[in-house]
Amino acid sequence: MLPCFLVFLPPSPPLLKLTPLFAALRLTILSATTHLRLDPLAQARAWLGAARSIAVLTGAGISAESGIPTFRGPGGLWNNHRPEELATPEAFARNPKLSWEWYDWRRQRVSAAQPNPGHRALAGLEQKAAEFTLITQNVDGLHRAAGSRNIIELHGSLWRIRCLGCGREEENRAVPLRPLPPQCTCGGLMRPAVVWFGEALPVDAIHRAARAASQCDLLLVCGTSAVVYPAAALPDQAIAAGARVIEVNIEPTPFTDYAHLSLRGRCGEILPQLVASTPASESPL
Ligand code: APR
Repeated sequence: MLPCFLVFLPPSPPLLKLTPLFAALRLTILSATTHLRLDPLAQARAWLGAARSIAVLTGAGISAESGIPTFRGPGGLWNNHRPEELATPEAFARNPKLSWEWYDWRRQRVSAAQPNPGHRALAGLEQKAAEFTLITQNVDGLHRAAGSRNIIELHGSLWRIRCLGCGREEENRAVPLRPLPPQCTCGGLMRPAVVWFGEALPVDAIHRAARAASQCDLLLVCGTSAVVYPAAALPDQAIAAGARVIEVNIEPTPFTDYAHLSLRGRCGEILPQLVASTPASESPL
C-alpha cells in the first residue's frame, strides 16, 4: 500500500529498494546478459517493443524543454521560493493572495508554452501500445495538449480551481486570473486544485497509478528527481512486481542505481528516438 500524502523525502533507499551491494551485483549481471549485447538505447527500444503493458511516470523535467521551470536543480522553482510559504494548506490560509500570485504566474508561464517532442513522443507511444497509462506529477496539462489520453494527474491541475467553502471544482483557464484570490459563486474562497505538501493525493488517482505500476511490463520514468512521495515509490513498486524500469534523465537520481536501464539526456531528445523506432512488438530479450 502506497503512502497517500505528498512528502519530500531526502534520498535514501526505502524498504522496497535493493541494498546498494545487491543493486551493484544485479547491474553487473544485467551488463553481462544484456548491456553488452545492445547499446542502451537499442536495449530500451527492444524492451519497449516487447512490452504489452506500458506505464510512464513523468516529472517536471519533461516540461523543461517547453520552458517550464523544474522544482529542483539549476533554475528550479524551489531555489528561489520556499514551498512552506506557497504550496501548503497553512501557507494558503496565512496568505491566499501571495499563494495565488505564484500560481497565477505559473499559469501565465504554462499558457505561453507548447508541448515539446518528449510530450509528443509519449502521445505517439500510447498509440502503439496495447495498454498504456501515463502517470504525471505535472500540473501543467502539456501531456493532454500533446495528445496523450490515458493520463493520471497525481498532483492535480493548474487549470482547475476548488472552493474551500462548498467544495465545488471547476475548470478555469483565465490568464491572468482576476480577482486574486478568486471567489466561488457561494462566496467561498477558491484555491488551486493541486496537491500541496502534507495533503493527501486524490485516492482514485493514487490507486490507479499503483495498479498501473504493479501491472505493467515496463515503466518509463522520465524527468523526475524521484524524491517526492508517493510518486517516487511507484518505480520500486513496478520493480517489485517484476516490471522492467527505464529512467530518462539528464542527471543521476536516487533511483538511478535501481533502474534496469538509465538513459542519460533530455526527454525531448531521447524519447522521440526511443519511440520512433519502437516496433509494434518484438520478442523479449
Ligand atoms: N530531460 C530529462 N530530465 C530533465 C530535464 C530534461 N530536459 N530537465 C530536467 N530534468 C530532470 C532533473 O535532472 C530532475 O531530476 O528532471 C528532474 C526534475 O526534478 P524536480 O524539479 O524535483 O521535479 P519533480 O520530480 O517532478 O518534482 C516532484 O515535487 O515540488 C513538488 O509537487 C511538485 O510535482 C512536483 C514534485
